[in-house]
Amino acid sequence: MVLELLPETARIEDGELLLGGMPATRLAEEHGTPLLVYCERTIREQVLAYREAAPDALIAYGTKAFANVALLRLFAEEGVGADVSTQGELAFARAAGISGKRIVFHGNNKSTEELRAATEAGALVVLDAPGEADAAAAAGVRRVLVRLTPGVEAVTHRSIQTAHAESKFGLAPEAAERELERARELGLEVEGVHVHIGSQLGRPDESVLAVERVVAFLERLQWTPSVLDLGGGLGVRHNRDERLPSVTEFVRPLVERVPGGVSLILEPGRSLVGRAGVTLYRVGSVKESGGVAYAAIDGGMSDNPRPQLYGARYEALLANRADELPSRVYRVAGKHCESGDVLIEAAELPEPRPGDVLAVPATGAYTLALGSTYNGVPRPAVVLVADGEARLIRRRESVDELLRYEAG
Ligand SMILES: Cc1ncc(COP(=O)(O)O)c(C=O)c1O
Repeated sequence: MVLELLPETARIEDGELLLGGMPATRLAEEHGTPLLVYCERTIREQVLAYREAAPDALIAYGTKAFANVALLRLFAEEGVGADVSTQGELAFARAAGISGKRIVFHGNNKSTEELRAATEAGALVVLDAPGEADAAAAAGVRRVLVRLTPGVEAVTHRSIQTAHAESKFGLAPEAAERELERARELGLEVEGVHVHIGSQLGRPDESVLAVERVVAFLERLQWTPSVLDLGGGLGVRHNRDERLPSVTEFVRPLVERVPGGVSLILEPGRSLVGRAGVTLYRVGSVKESGGVAYAAIDGGMSDNPRPQLYGARYEALLANRADELPSRVYRVAGKHCESGDVLIEAAELPEPRPGDVLAVPATGAYTLALGSTYNGVPRPAVVLVADGEARLIRRRESVDELLRYEAG
């Protein structure tokens, strides 16, 4: 049953999918479709799971998974900070009231403006390239980490591996050591080392290896830093074939390898918000083409390009006929002018009818965050549901707004 991929509060009652106590069809009627729905309880429970697995760590939400002020406020309430990688993401974190003490600023090519913004916020800056210590010092930065590239191949899509030998991120051990020394010469406070090996990880093994290499690096330098930042990475189940460790199973082996007296930072993004998000679409045309049964929806690659970028495989259900058994396999196509705009290659569904509401689980991370307005399709609205109420946390864009940027 697709239910296991849905948020904690998902229920099926009288054939209707409920999320946070709200019927999905009512959400679709009141807010329109496509609609990204986040379940507050699922997010809070994921935070709790991290707290239990690493009680003393600073949890900094990987804002890139979905930058949204209301969600960042919710995280701030839970004592969670933010990992940001641009001035834009920093602005979201600051707008949510997250203190600079809880912000880690990344990026493989930070601009002077971004370094200045990080200084102003009082964020911890992660040095990622030779010469960045000089640029950071010139921009007034005080506190830094050095990002180490341990030469570990994460088992995940190539585009989201980040610590293999030829990664664009971070510094190989010798270069990291030189940057660290340069930062000290410049009077920067070098608090420690950062490592992040990739995203949508299905096991801790390679992360454990990375931590072991970081520890060996520190031992060689005979240095006990005050901070170790182990990044994020834990994956989310998008379909029932995917098997993933729990937060505890993933995080514990890492925490156990951190030397005593060193403060830990973790930067989960996907695993905090991925399962909490469900996208609702309205089914439009249904047709058969060359033996393939198509159901077309009113969104697609502009609100979720993960199938095209990473070959992501989703499942779905009809929110208004959630207790009906699947009758056939359907290819769920988006509305964009591109044959590759297929959200789900093979979805088992009861025969869809125009007007049905299609719910796609596990779409809370790196979906709308990677979205576009391709084909002049405005971006969808986002709501947060809890206890039978829905709160709009991102307004639907309009076509007029798309025209606003035109000049000349
Ligand atoms: C430096 C850093 N930290 C944290 C994250 C969040 O990763 P995830 O969403 O896989 O937990 C990323 C994303 O790739 C990242 O680049």
